[in-house]
Amino acid sequence: MALSRIGILTSGGDAPGMNAAIRAVARRAIYDGLEVVGVRHGFQGLISGDFQPLDLGSVGDIIHRGGTILFTARSSAFLTEEGQRLAVDALAQAGIEGLIIAGGDGSLRGAQALARRGVVTIGIPASIDNDLPFTQWSIGFDTAVNTALDAIDRIRDTATSHERTFVIEVMGHSCGWIALAAGLGGGAESILLPEEPFSLDAIIERLDRGRARGKRHSIIVVSEGTASATDVAQAVTSRTGMETRVTILGHVQRGGSPTAVDRLLASQMGARAVELLEAGATGRVVGVREGHLVDDEIEEALEKPRQFPHQLAALAAILSI
Ligand code: F6P
Repeated sequence: MALSRIGILTSGGDAPGMNAAIRAVARRAIYDGLEVVGVRHGFQGLISGDFQPLDLGSVGDIIHRGGTILFTARSSAFLTEEGQRLAVDALAQAGIEGLIIAGGDGSLRGAQALARRGVVTIGIPASIDNDLPFTQWSIGFDTAVNTALDAIDRIRDTATSHERTFVIEVMGHSCGWIALAAGLGGGAESILLPEEPFSLDAIIERLDRGRARGKRHSIIVVSEGTASATDVAQAVTSRTGMETRVTILGHVQRGGSPTAVDRLLASQMGARAVELLEAGATGRVVGVREGHLVDDEIEEALEKPRQFPHQLAALAAILSI
């Protein structure tokens, strides 16, 4: 049976490009004559039926904006039996026949739960962490990396002027992609990643080698949760006598206008999600691999082993010799 009304929901940590995805979903669907409903406040709003009709105008002027016009939330109520039942009922009552969910791992597990309950559901990967195993890139990662990189460049200026070592903590949850990309791109001397063991001795040795050839400033990038940036800075000061400062970039990495890469990714993924719904698919997620859009069963996609580019980490270490 052909669909007539679909919904779009953003969930979990916001990611720059979510708005571009909302716009793409709404416009691709409206182009084919479908009605589109935005679910506000993620799964929390789904449970309470917090819906908003989307027309062409309501998604105008948002492609360049960070955050999500639909708001987002981390819902504990949706993790319960009762919460999921209420969500299914709310969708049925509003006549929403297919739901597109943009978010990270937790949100896509929510999509999986709905699909298991018979809701027609398609997922879109949106997370600055780039920690999803079925896609090479998730929406928001490129923008977050560029934000971190810009911050590192700025810190480098003052690090050079004051001849200091900076320890910069970046986000990423349990994934080192942001740290690796921003650290390599920003010429960091050391990058501490959750995917690789690190040794304080090796970091100090690297700093000593630099100092021996007259280098008086350094950048160390730490992926959150890998080590305490403050502890690393204190160890560097006590073992080398170098002056250190700590910068925790935090949520600044989640905001801002999405890069061209994220806008293109979000536009393509949003449109593909609608096309999948129209083709009768459910329980699938969109991804990108080797430059091509792909889609997989959510069940399998989330269980794939996560690939981490250790060769890129090795290259970063070589280039910061
Ligand atoms: O998943 C995105 C992310 O920004 C992680 O990098 C970070 O660990 C977490 O969300 C922070 O979550 P919150 O915004 O709830 O503090």
